[in-house]
Amino acid sequence: MLEGKDLISLHDLSADEIEEILALAAELKAMQKAGVEHHILEGKTLGMIFEKSSTRTRVSFETGMYQLGGHALFLSNKDLQIGRGEPIEDTARVLSRYLDGVMIRTFEHEKLVKFAKYATIPVINGLTDLLHPCQVLADLLTIREHLGKNLKGLKLAYIGDGNNMANSLMYGCAKMGMDFVAATPEGYEPDRGVVKNAKADAEATGALVMLTHDPAEAARDADILYTDVWVSMGEEAEREKRRRDLAGYQINRGLLQFASKRAMVMHCLPAHRGEEIAADVFEEHADMIFDEAENRLHAQKAVMALLMG
Ligand code: CP
Ligand code: NVA
Repeated sequence: MLEGKDLISLHDLSADEIEEILALAAELKAMQKAGVEHHILEGKTLGMIFEKSSTRTRVSFETGMYQLGGHALFLSNKDLQIGRGEPIEDTARVLSRYLDGVMIRTFEHEKLVKFAKYATIPVINGLTDLLHPCQVLADLLTIREHLGKNLKGLKLAYIGDGNNMANSLMYGCAKMGMDFVAATPEGYEPDRGVVKNAKADAEATGALVMLTHDPAEAARDADILYTDVWVSMGEEAEREKRRRDLAGYQINRGLLQFASKRAMVMHCLPAHRGEEIAADVFEEHADMIFDEAENRLHAQKAVMALLMG
């Protein structure tokens, strides 16, 4: 179903396709833990273009490709001719002649879309200013492991900046029938176009997509509390303003009182203790948060196997 496709946005996938990825991710995770070889992508090469920093994405894609029997190439924009102005459409056509798939982390989402338009191999979004779908696939896998396979009807509350993580979680929840509520300050709401699309997706699955400025309202009876940094990559110049504006949009003990007793606390990492999450809450939920980080590996292996297999 997914063979040869791109992964640009979860909005482009059906719920069945997301299910397929999650099911294979769980299978590959079990195989890896049992030491069973799974060289599904033997002889294949993934290019990984990074225009921003990364710890998890880089290491999980590279290791994942190795475990699948293939090879991954780290390509920094500082070294590629893109950095000297070679057009994205030429880069996409050239790399398509060598590689079996490309993962890109960049700033403008449109750049990724343009690359995918000219590439003839699967293109995977490794984060843009707008979306981070690979993270959300790992998140859904983690939620299933902790709260059970049936995602439908669960409530996820996102607290903080309405950024690429908020946008992607909104898509993931709407597709899988989970209620999504984001609490952000005024002026920090998620992307309008994403909200519109996610509401349409949610209508089909009976889920709720809601925005508020009140963290307590969002957190009420939530099964999952999720947050991400107040200052994303590329926004460093706004650091002080953002810290002022987002103060109060923190996951802490006080906010947890409103959530379900069994509520999960999630963070895509890297975390800034004392900003979007209190240090004690982070440490109390650290096992879960690092399971989430680990699941990047398993979810992305499934994505690569299905797209590039
Ligand atoms: N969560 C995430 O994408 O981490 P990196 O920026 O380290 O890849
Ligand atoms: N919103 C963050 C996510 C990092 C994984 C950023 O874009 O920097």
